[in-house]
Amino acid sequence: MKKEKILIFDTTLRDGEQTPGAGLNVNEKLKIALQLENLGVDIMEAGFPRTSKGDLEAVKTVSRHIKRSVVCGLARATKKDIDDAAEALKKAKKPRIHVFLATSKIHMKYKLKKAEEEILRTAVDAVKYARRKLPDVEFSPEDASRTEPGFLRKVVEEVIKAGARTVNIPDTVGYAVPVEFGSTIKMLKDTVPNIEDAVISVHCHNDLGLGVSNSLAAVLNGARQVECTVNGLGERAGNAALEEIVMAIKMRKDIFKGLYTDIKTEELYKTSKLVSKLTGIIVQPNKSIIGENAFCHESGIHQDGVLKKRVTYEIIRPQDVGFEGSKIVLGKLSGRHAFSDRIKKLGFSLSSDEIDAAFKRFKDLADKKQKIYDDDLAAIVEEGLDAVQEMYKLKDFEVVSGKKTKPVATVKLYHQGQETEARATGDGPVDACFKAIEKASGEKGKLVDYRVGAVTSGKDALGEASVKIQFDGRIVVGRGTSTDVIEASLRAYVNAINRVHSSGYGGKTRKTAKSLRGKARKA
Ligand code: KIV
Ligand code: ZN
Repeated sequence: MKKEKILIFDTTLRDGEQTPGAGLNVNEKLKIALQLENLGVDIMEAGFPRTSKGDLEAVKTVSRHIKRSVVCGLARATKKDIDDAAEALKKAKKPRIHVFLATSKIHMKYKLKKAEEEILRTAVDAVKYARRKLPDVEFSPEDASRTEPGFLRKVVEEVIKAGARTVNIPDTVGYAVPVEFGSTIKMLKDTVPNIEDAVISVHCHNDLGLGVSNSLAAVLNGARQVECTVNGLGERAGNAALEEIVMAIKMRKDIFKGLYTDIKTEELYKTSKLVSKLTGIIVQPNKSIIGENAFCHESGIHQDGVLKKRVTYEIIRPQDVGFEGSKIVLGKLSGRHAFSDRIKKLGFSLSSDEIDAAFKRFKDLADKKQKIYDDDLAAIVEEGLDAVQEMYKLKDFEVVSGKKTKPVATVKLYHQGQETEARATGDGPVDACFKAIEKASGEKGKLVDYRVGAVTSGKDALGEASVKIQFDGRIVVGRGTSTDVIEASLRAYVNAINRVHSSGYGGKTRKTAKSLRGKARKA
């Protein structure tokens, strides 16, 4: 059987970052990029350089660090966009420019206000211009699934002639259904004369929940690159989920005959956790492949079946996607050597100073928590690696709350060597704390999301809080951990304020974001 590789083009850092409320700074993008490379993605779209300084910086930084994967920058079909993308990709080992231009009647008439001939000419000129900058150019006729087939054929043929090595067919608004989308790919493969000179790619959105199905239908009809995101993040309802596409191809070799990807599937869970943590977008427990319940068997009949023979109710081995029970590793009496050894095994490479600082946090935690799990260790190390300058530091806090008492919080902060203190009441203890921080720091923001979760299980589990705060139209994510959820929440809020002041933040402006302060009220 002929073996053929399906290229995995990850766009978590570009389309994924367009998820409402997901904003990543340069350092966070780099962390995700390095993990995407470990995961084995063939191409990663690191950003859209023309849109913001943060994105330009992020593409530059990712380009400098990534060795094996192709690094891609998105550009509209204009010289300025292409110049910026080329500039941002200068240091990349394997750079790619991805040019896009809408080709559907709806987009041409209402958005671009241009006729077919002009669109075709602009697309061809843009590809030629990008090819003068770089050999690896991809072109996307945006809204391809709603483009008139004759025009789509023409555009695909002409951009390949102009030098596009990859032509991506986006289902931009997630409108297609699998049988139809598969036929579109087949039609292009059968009728575009020079189609073999380019890789056909697909990019499916999830508005009807069909992103993965459409991508797989396309693969069965000749697409050899799939654009997708970790956890299915992306604009509106998101993009096709990388983990689902990869595992479908791997598990159903009988259907996807001879097709394979180079993804190290054991890295999927870790990648999903990292992306969820840094974007602040939680993964639903019943999410396929990497959701916390994906390998839990609740009913007695199922449990009995799995105990007798795993394959009765489990089609994937949990270990194959990176699920592994957390191991008890260290405790109060563990020394620095055992600690740094375990940190290395978890994949962190820290300087001696960073190990010292992490070891101190570990000891503080070990005073409060008997058993320290791998996930706890990862959380405390990552908190320390958060390269945000600590303009404000939480010094102390006190909260009084009760059924018949209006919650009141006193918060002490350090700000540039000075101590500031403020007291505030709120609808709940967390709300009171947040208001006290605002008073103490003078930084006014609007809370748009607030979540707390446990890093590991048990009564003394490390709690992790994440907040999204809108400052002047910019949404910033803040995170904090502690065995006390109120302290974790305060740390998260202070972290968000510090992030506003740190450079290179790529957070997106969302004027329509609704205040969810109420969410924190009764917490
Ligand atoms: O959804 C879309 O059409 C896109 C393009 C830029 C490929 O994201
Ligand atoms: Zn998209």
